[in-house]
Amino acid sequence: MQLIRGHLIEAKRFGEPDITENGYIAVEGGVIKGVYADLPEAYAGAPVTDYSDRLVLQGFCDMHLHASQFPMLGMGMDLPLLDWLRTYTFKTEARFADEAYARRVYRRFADALVSNGTTRVCAFSSIHADATLILMEELERAGVSGFVGKVNMDRNGGECEETLEDSKRGTLRWLDACGRFSSVRPILTPRFTPSCSDGMLAWLGALARERGLFVQSHLSENRAEIELVKRLHPDCAQYWQTYEKYGLFSDHTIMAHCVHSDEREQDALIRHGVLCAHCPDSNVNICSGFAPVRRMAARGVWVALGSDIAGGAELPMLRVMTACIRASKARAVLTGGADAFLTVGEAYYLATSAGARYFGDEPGFAPGNRLHAVVIDDSGMPEGVRPLTVKERFERAAYLSNERSVAAVYGNGKRIK
Ligand code: GUN
Ligand code: FE
Repeated sequence: MQLIRGHLIEAKRFGEPDITENGYIAVEGGVIKGVYADLPEAYAGAPVTDYSDRLVLQGFCDMHLHASQFPMLGMGMDLPLLDWLRTYTFKTEARFADEAYARRVYRRFADALVSNGTTRVCAFSSIHADATLILMEELERAGVSGFVGKVNMDRNGGECEETLEDSKRGTLRWLDACGRFSSVRPILTPRFTPSCSDGMLAWLGALARERGLFVQSHLSENRAEIELVKRLHPDCAQYWQTYEKYGLFSDHTIMAHCVHSDEREQDALIRHGVLCAHCPDSNVNICSGFAPVRRMAARGVWVALGSDIAGGAELPMLRVMTACIRASKARAVLTGGADAFLTVGEAYYLATSAGARYFGDEPGFAPGNRLHAVVIDDSGMPEGVRPLTVKERFERAAYLSNERSVAAVYGNGKRIK
């Protein structure tokens, strides 16, 4: 038994966080046993890791990002989606045919996630099976868990296009080699409908069913993309049906963006148990739009946050949270206040518990969850004009934290920073 002490900030619902000031998390074998305001008698002799007066947040879940775009972080954001892919992205991802390059980039990528408090991810790699395995190794080494997918794309892929046969062979070889990982698992990754032939989508749908694998892709991010999908699949009234037709739209499928999904498409997300990964920084950077996050959440869509690097330029999920709030304020302005903006507490829920549910967790530091936590030291932030409440400090930390404020990180029950 081990105890962690500090100001515990839990996102138990889409709303205000629960705060336990200088409380205790009891952990045994990496699993949370309980949260206590006062030290229970039974635990009196247990060792305490004391983060008194520090903020103890839940570990962050980045539910959509492209590890192979880490080298273009902060670059090339002057084009809309389809031109951005052709001009910059596919060229960047093609570099991952070089395994030594992949090792260097993915090592720094995995370390950057941990440094910023991201303990779980759902990541795209590139089309390369070997580089994908390297990414999984580096995440496991750093202590990050989650899902990683080798990208499948056999049309409109520029430098990254595979033949259907090569894509199948590479995917099976990659899946066969994944057994050695314990905390990083494979997820099938058709890039998006415009990148995949009907044969590709059908083969992946059958594979998902046969092997019980989850699926991640993109949906209704950009208007030109949606028009292209209409031309490619005239039989489908809506974009989501191009996935559903092939068995790629089911429980625990992740669809990034859904910026332009209307109520009918949102209803399909709800009906099928699909997670919408909202990526606000990316949506602004490549001019995709402002997703109706509050409306989606209120209607029952399962929404969680993603950085979508390198469409998004912010890897730290605290930054993605504030990007999410800003995007929601732009939407509030554009709708004349009809869509109210998100609070820090709501964005925190989307960045933690909403994604953690994907991995089987209950919200907050719930008993039975493995410990995923981030300790924030805000002592270097400006001194207030009066003593701040813990809630105020938490809200400020969302805006002002950087890598140096992240004093400790626990991933999957172990200290990883
Ligand atoms: N749609 C298909 N591929 C991508 C990608 O790499 N990034 C984003 N933002 N959207 C995509
Ligand atoms: Fe993406």
